[in-house]
Amino acid sequence: MADHSIEQRIAALRREIRHHDHLYYTKDRPEISDAEYDRLFRELSELETAHPDLVTPDSPTQRVGAPPLDELTKVTHEKPMLSLDSITDQKDVLAFDARMKRELETDRIVYTAEPKFDGLSVELVYEQGRFVRGATRGDGMIGEDVTVNLRTIRTLPLQLHPEAAPPARLVVRGEVYMRLDEFQQLNRRMTERGEEAFANPRNAAAGSLRQLDSRITASRPLTVTCYDIMAVAGRSPATHWDELDALGAWGLPVPGQRKRCGSIEDVLSFQQTIDGMRDTLPFEIDGVVVKLDRRDWQDQLGSKSRSPRWAIAYKFAPRKEITVIQDIAVSVGRTGTLTPLALLKPVEVGGVTISRATLHNADEVARKDIRVGDTVKVERAGDVIPAIAERVPVAGEERQAPFVMPDHCPVCGSAVAREGAYYYCTGQTLCVAQLKGAIEHFASKSALNIDGLGKKTVAQLVDAGMVKDLADLYSLTKEQLLTLDGFADRSASLLMHSVERSKAVSLERLLMGLGIRQVGQHIARVLAKQFGTLPRVMAATQEEFLGVREIGPEISASLASFFSEARNRAVIDRLVDRGLTVAAPPADSSAGGRLLSGKTFVFTGGLAGYSRDQAKQLVEQQGGTVSSSVSKKTAYVVTGTDPGSKLDQARKLGVQILTEGEFTALVTPA
Ligand code: IVH
Repeated sequence: MADHSIEQRIAALRREIRHHDHLYYTKDRPEISDAEYDRLFRELSELETAHPDLVTPDSPTQRVGAPPLDELTKVTHEKPMLSLDSITDQKDVLAFDARMKRELETDRIVYTAEPKFDGLSVELVYEQGRFVRGATRGDGMIGEDVTVNLRTIRTLPLQLHPEAAPPARLVVRGEVYMRLDEFQQLNRRMTERGEEAFANPRNAAAGSLRQLDSRITASRPLTVTCYDIMAVAGRSPATHWDELDALGAWGLPVPGQRKRCGSIEDVLSFQQTIDGMRDTLPFEIDGVVVKLDRRDWQDQLGSKSRSPRWAIAYKFAPRKEITVIQDIAVSVGRTGTLTPLALLKPVEVGGVTISRATLHNADEVARKDIRVGDTVKVERAGDVIPAIAERVPVAGEERQAPFVMPDHCPVCGSAVAREGAYYYCTGQTLCVAQLKGAIEHFASKSALNIDGLGKKTVAQLVDAGMVKDLADLYSLTKEQLLTLDGFADRSASLLMHSVERSKAVSLERLLMGLGIRQVGQHIARVLAKQFGTLPRVMAATQEEFLGVREIGPEISASLASFFSEARNRAVIDRLVDRGLTVAAPPADSSAGGRLLSGKTFVFTGGLAGYSRDQAKQLVEQQGGTVSSSVSKKTAYVVTGTDPGSKLDQARKLGVQILTEGEFTALVTPA
């Protein structure tokens, strides 16, 4: 690779990793498997090792995690909450042992091995034996204060055992997770209530702990296990083993299965024992953690930027189960891509029932030689989208014909075109599947952010013929909405309101929302900054796009082709006709919109007309800022239904309190 293309690859990987970090850490809704993420991360690490001059302080390899959300109060950790290097091969465990021996100049090393709990890690602070504060890991340096939520966890002692003379101050690290049976019950309850089920116990635990309303947390079956002393007043135990014993004696839950290993062979056999128990354990674990037992040796070896040198996560191979492919369906995505999907005889893989698995694309199906009726191994590496690992040949079986991609779109019947391994429907938004996808994308949070316009509603609007393109959204009437399933007066008004609100949109969000191939949030921002107005973007030539930093040949071709299509231009024109007003990107000196400059807002309780994100956006559009806690510097506290303690705080400090109506009047002046 030439230097130039290495730089580009590094930039692309960082962007992608940051994006997935955000989905995983902040949203609790990952889109790729851990294995895929690890691959991206490894490629970036390797490129950076080979080209140390290209390492920048903001690279994902240079920090411990991802940034916390705005809403919960931030807390700086006692010391950085590191991550662990992970390995899956036995030979890497042996290499770890060899390195320890070399660096410590000894061949007698004791390790402690314990399960690696698959949840989210927390910092717990005890003072005078009392639980006083707890935080999520966040980016490793700064986490979120979830003290009240942690207090709701039954296995977390609020008071340490006084008879065991706990230290005056103790900071421990542990893992919050959900038992499998309780996870399944919770998901059943959520589905019954029409709420979306969690993809796996880890997401359920994270989603439950990071709640603004601790009553919700209290209703969720969380549990915790502690495995590390981060700080302690007085003498600290000399070994990790003693440390766990001490934690246990003080009343904290510690790993039940653990082993003090006098050799690396002992570690390997412990790993095998635990792997064998994996299916009978009531909670998910994804490996074992191997730690140097002596703490003075831990200190001597220290840590790298993300992880300690003295410990390693020895991860299990992904779980696999055998089942049969009942059919291969083909789904059509937002941009028309056809994806083959295996419909499986339902099978339980690690506590989660799986009935479909993605086959990615036609090449993949051919490579794995997968056909209807085949027996296959499905795997789920603790992640969301299960995949087919391999076909299991069965002696004497009679196989069906190989799978072929349809030459017409299964949804709209348009011709299917091919681009490398990918097949796509040429029907564009004449294809109902693409139209639905396009509208969902347009309405999504990071685009036009039309609250209340979810998948189900979009499907109904399209199926009823009320919306044939994006612009039709802006001619919907309340009467039309009332004819749809699940709509009553209030919900119809709310949706009308959010459609109306979305008419004032930034150029960046609009460009993101149009669903131009290869144009995500980042590129949309780059374009908005560069061109400033919609007409200028629409008038740009392919060469002009290519001239923009960060925009390469593929993206510029996609942009040029999108804007050269009469149909797309017509939809944009109609959007503008129907009242969409596109705001220029916030230049620092931009005129207007500085009404609330320097004013800080705090929200408490639910708002009827806006999501928190929308409210925040409105404040920011006018130059104000939003904070999560009330102080003397707060200009306004906006109260909705069920306001919390922030309202009392506002009264106490004499901060001006606004109703939702007053807020609306303030941010949208006539
Ligand atoms: S020790 C400095 N022990 O695994 C040592 N971590 O990939 C810090 N985890 O973020 C970690 N079980 O959330 C340790 N028995 C265990 C663990 C454990 C689960 C998690 C932890 C960490 C991740 C590392």
